[in-house]
Amino acid sequence: MKSVQASTILGVGHYVPSKVVTNDDLSKLMQTSDEWIVQRTGIKERRYIEHSGIGASDLAVPASKMALEHAGLTTQDVDAIIFATLSPDHNFPGSGCFLGHKLGLPGIPALDIRNQCSGFLYGLSIADAWIRAGMYRHVLLVGSEVHSTGIELSDRGRDVAVLFGDGAGAALIGPATEPNQGLKSIKLHADGSGAKELWVESPASAYQPRITKEMIDEGKHLPAMNGKQVFRWATEKMPEVARAVLEEAKLTGDNVDLFVPHQANLRINQLVCQKLGIPEDKTVANIANYGNTTAATIPLGLSEAWREGRCRRGSNVLMAAFGSGFTWGAAVLTL
Ligand SMILES: CC(C)(COP(=O)(O)OP(=O)(O)OC[C@H]1O[C@@H](n2cnc3c(N)ncnc32)[C@H](O)[C@@H]1OP(=O)(O)O)[C@@H](O)C(=O)NCCC(=O)NCCS
Repeated sequence: MKSVQASTILGVGHYVPSKVVTNDDLSKLMQTSDEWIVQRTGIKERRYIEHSGIGASDLAVPASKMALEHAGLTTQDVDAIIFATLSPDHNFPGSGCFLGHKLGLPGIPALDIRNQCSGFLYGLSIADAWIRAGMYRHVLLVGSEVHSTGIELSDRGRDVAVLFGDGAGAALIGPATEPNQGLKSIKLHADGSGAKELWVESPASAYQPRITKEMIDEGKHLPAMNGKQVFRWATEKMPEVARAVLEEAKLTGDNVDLFVPHQANLRINQLVCQKLGIPEDKTVANIANYGNTTAATIPLGLSEAWREGRCRRGSNVLMAAFGSGFTWGAAVLTL
């Protein structure tokens, strides 16, 4: 295949399970309240899979089909899959292999990446490099999570459990067709000094055995988070990296038609918008409905916003994320 000048997002799609879980529903299972959750995070409800047996790749199927339809393409046009998730269907193989099989794409390469809340942006940088190098023409980039089977709906798990929800977003990345279109700048970062501030300790290849009954009793198989540290880092790093991509693209906040930040906490995003001087009416905020869907938040938010007419071909879209790792990044592109 021939190398191309630039890649862009040709279509987006999303899917969330039908089961709505409100803050009041959670307050029947643990010591929490709608007031506590809304005040601190902006979350009102989230979605959970309807029953056991539905994995991240299952949620990705309808999201991928929607993205393909939006792009005016079919599954036969997909040259490669990138699957971003921290909640893969199984430990191995990657969820991309399950998705490729479910979409009927034997032989199509499938790469799983484990970059948590920044997963979509890490995936976008890989897709862009593949496409510009002429290696693949159309890359299906998916972010999908099933969190509800990995949290504990109890007093012990409440600090993390109230934040997360299940959902999927997908984007079809391909060659830009107009001169001004395409990815203008993307920057990625990681700092493992914060790795244990938001993590799941086991099962771990570092332990023999990887997991024991004692570890389960202690809750080591559940996510553990230092919320205050994550908040502090996110409100510093997201604006910093967003400014860096705007500068490289020779754009300012005024040129941004739509800002799609990762949805971890409405308060984090309000502070980020303030620091960047981007008004909230140009910013996607759907955390109230879905909670934090990790790798899915950006494609899910962009898919909803595009369908609501908040962006169109030619719009400048800024994206930024921060999460476990710590990892963070930002990208700006013209649709
Ligand atoms: C998680 C977060 C909302 C907590 O807010 P906070 O103001 O830092 O709250 P704290 O952790 O200090 O907890 C305050 C109190 O509420 C309690 N609490 C924790 N979870 C609770 C819940 N779901 N319901 C009610 N009370 C809760 C704590 O036990 C603590 O009680 P104490 O004062 O008696 O010890 C906030 O730190 C945050 O959003 N951080 C970023 C998290 C994030 O973005 N994670 C994903 C990254 S991708």
